[in-house]
Amino acid sequence: MTILITGGAGFIGGHTVLALIDRGEIPIVLDDLSTGNRAAVPSGVPFFAGDIGDTELVLRLIQNHRIDAIVHFAAKIVVPESVADPLNYYLNNTVKTHTLLQAAVRGNVKHFVFSSTAAVYGNPSSTPVSETADPAPLSPYGRSKLMSEYMLVDASAAYDLRYVTLRYFNVAGADPARRLGQSTPGATHLIKVALETALRRRSYMNIYGSDYPTPDGTCVRDYVHVSDLARSHLAALDHLRDGGESRTLNCGYGRGYSVRQVVDAVRRVAGVDFEIRQAPRRAGDPASIVANSDELMKLGWEPELNDLPTMIEHALEWEKKLTAVT
Ligand SMILES: NC(=O)c1ccc[n+]([C@@H]2O[C@H](COP(=O)([O-])OP(=O)(O)OC[C@H]3O[C@@H](n4cnc5c(N)ncnc54)[C@H](O)[C@@H]3O)[C@@H](O)[C@H]2O)c1
Repeated sequence: MTILITGGAGFIGGHTVLALIDRGEIPIVLDDLSTGNRAAVPSGVPFFAGDIGDTELVLRLIQNHRIDAIVHFAAKIVVPESVADPLNYYLNNTVKTHTLLQAAVRGNVKHFVFSSTAAVYGNPSSTPVSETADPAPLSPYGRSKLMSEYMLVDASAAYDLRYVTLRYFNVAGADPARRLGQSTPGATHLIKVALETALRRRSYMNIYGSDYPTPDGTCVRDYVHVSDLARSHLAALDHLRDGGESRTLNCGYGRGYSVRQVVDAVRRVAGVDFEIRQAPRRAGDPASIVANSDELMKLGWEPELNDLPTMIEHALEWEKKLTAVT
């Protein structure tokens, strides 16, 4: 049976496609290339340029390829952009997820894995945060994802569809075999921005906010290696195929690093110093958030790359490769 990967030309979707083919699965990719990169999809993996909101296209793919599972990555993901243009985020992330779900139900797809985010928690009252914490997103991005989660819960109660929602924490790193990394132009991920600065593609970088209630005043996040995260989707698919019940699960390592600690680690790994500038807080950024991922581990997820310098090293190798080809 074949797995439909929406957003498979993007950062996380692309790494998950690699994890799937590495274990002999058959993925196909649907992506509108709004932020994704055609080259991220390995040759041999069928690629369809199109919109998840195109019901006829999605139904055709489900029928022609005998899709038994959808792994849904396609989304807009930039928090400040969602604050500036919320309706576009609700359209792309929520309305089109509704359309995709409707096509999945009509096409008789039984398994759905959904990319959600730690942003649904907002500023949790205690951290590490577990899945039982009340969601309280701070941004339209987080709300656009939480609404999709609710649709999935209700759809699964009503129809013959089971899901795993994975709430990713901060995703970083690159494929250790150097096949792929983060290629999105203008990406806002901290480690990528710091590496671009280290490689002199930016003359300086900003740190947003230094007065948060954290040990050094900068935001604290739980960074998870993209290849470990990709493998969490395999655990989710195995769980669903084994008849497991629908679940909503965190995916992070359970350890937080401040923005300053990450920048210092990038300086050490890259072996260069670079300029940082202090900028005001950004709307929608919680102070500190770290995952409790015990439930995902019980499902069989075994992180293999839980080490910040390793994550940075893999991302650095990818950035150097990008520099060599641009
Ligand atoms: N990167 C992170 O740190 C992070 C953290 C938490 C959650 N997530 C979630 O993970 C998922 C993937 O994120 P990413 O970092 O790989 O982002 P990305 O921008 O690299 O990938 C998203 C992909 O979806 C595609 N896409 C967007 N809208 C589409 C549409 N309407 N139809 C078809 N394709 C569309 C884009 O072209 C892109 O290839 C997203 O759902 C995001 O919310 C990411």
